[in-house]
Amino acid sequence: MDELTRLHREFLKDSVRLGFDFSTTGQNRGLPPPPAQKPYPAAARTVALPGPEAFGGLVDAPLIALLKSRRSVRRFSDEAFSLAELAFLLWATQGVTSRPGPAVTLRTVPSAGARHAFETYLYCRRVEGVEEGIWRYLPLEHRLLFEFSEPGLALRIATACLGQRFVTQGAATFCWSVLPARMEWRYGPAAHRVLPLDAGHVCQNLYLAAEAIGAGACAIGAYDQRALDKLLRLDGEEEFMLYLAPVGKKQA
Ligand SMILES: Cc1cc2nc3c(=O)[nH]c(=O)nc-3n(C[C@H](O)[C@H](O)[C@H](O)COP(=O)(O)O)c2cc1C
Repeated sequence: MDELTRLHREFLKDSVRLGFDFSTTGQNRGLPPPPAQKPYPAAARTVALPGPEAFGGLVDAPLIALLKSRRSVRRFSDEAFSLAELAFLLWATQGVTSRPGPAVTLRTVPSAGARHAFETYLYCRRVEGVEEGIWRYLPLEHRLLFEFSEPGLALRIATACLGQRFVTQGAATFCWSVLPARMEWRYGPAAHRVLPLDAGHVCQNLYLAAEAIGAGACAIGAYDQRALDKLLRLDGEEEFMLYLAPVGKKQA
């Protein structure tokens, strides 16, 4: 077996815990945890999202049927999402359902140590009342934060996803970044094994929630790291792109 394969297999195991002194983590040294959400300027433009009380009318499907019919969808109709539909997808993937302490959130998805180390950027293409561009979900406030817009976004994102054009042909593209320090604060170098496990839960919830509203999603793991980080204005070290998924109504 080549050395790289051996190393990567080793990474998948939880052996890292055996060789790491957990008394050195930020948490065990008494340092405050990194914020549960990236800060943003007080004057930033935000949009309030409908909450769970608005979701009842959107979904009328039993879980077994959703699980049976879930597929990766790469062809989308031109139909826009309503704000409530987008809010539902965001809530299903990162929504805060409980705040047991000032720095701790429990959400619709599980997370190792409840660290929730992701931010959700959205390329909004066709969402009623939402300007085309890059937005960020604020789980603590359940609002959308406008990040930026510039010409040619759809093509640039698709190109950064190695030419997969369908990535920007849905109503929106979910782009999940990771801030490893949030997880490292608790787990040190054991953080990096659980982060991709966490990401899987988030994307699976998107698949199921999308299916529940007659939409579809497709997980995207193939992309140009540097190009996508640059495009989304991430520093590439403290925060970088991890996973994406276009989502949109299915074609009839
Ligand atoms: C981690 C991961 C990465 C993936 N990356 C891509 C991708 O870059 N492009 C793509 O078209 N599909 C991608 N997929 C979707 C898979 O191809 C798809 O899940 C698989 O073919 C099984 O089909 P199903 O999801 O419809 O059951 C990815 C799926 C996962 C879980």
